[in-house]
Amino acid sequence: MIVTLDGPAGAGKSTAARALAARMGWCYLDTGAMYRSVALVALERGISLDDSAALADLAGTLAIDFRAGRVMVGDRDVSGEIRTERITQATRPVADAPSVRAAMKQLQRRLAEGRDVVTEGRDQGSEVFPWAEVKVFLTASADERARRRHREEAARGVTTSLESVRAAQAQRDEGDRVRPVGAMQPAADAVILETDGLSADEVVERLATLVAGKRPGASPP
Ligand code: DC
Repeated sequence: MIVTLDGPAGAGKSTAARALAARMGWCYLDTGAMYRSVALVALERGISLDDSAALADLAGTLAIDFRAGRVMVGDRDVSGEIRTERITQATRPVADAPSVRAAMKQLQRRLAEGRDVVTEGRDQGSEVFPWAEVKVFLTASADERARRRHREEAARGVTTSLESVRAAQAQRDEGDRVRPVGAMQPAADAVILETDGLSADEVVERLATLVAGKRPGASPP
């Protein structure tokens, strides 16, 4: 079975997707980590972020994979390195390039082949797995998302104002929404799940209920 979880940054997708996959014993596909990995290697190899043909070549050849909860490029564990602010910035032009998105789409489909997966991103239900059995668009109000991110950053020792977190978030949301290919949008048949006021456990509970309703042998609603 394929479960897609799309939505804006800060909606709690990663936590929910990881927890749901662990609960079901399924694979977790963190597609943001895949775009981040391309950006990391592009910077290391001196590939210009404006050169979409070179980025696409790179994206088509990188062996990105997930092993035991780690993000791997070949045998290299890049889980930590892809989370820096520098990589977050560099990932935007990488994710904007349609030819990179085409390569990632292929790889994401290959990684999911023959497996039960929970896949998380922006375009998983709308573009990559339009046949997924369960599609969820996870969202939360801009205020709530900014507060969560601000708390996370404070926990990591980063001192920024709530206002600047919120401004950066608005800019990222807009970039994700207007991207010509792979724009963030709920699939027409996605369930919209608004997470304001819900704990992480409550979100996973709701997702698990949606999955249970779609499993073979489940009783009709
Ligand atoms: O979810 P994240 O912050 O790790 O995503 C990193 C970047 O990749 C962000 O700019 C959004 C983009 N992205 C995307 O365009 N499509 C996806 N399926 C996942 C992430």
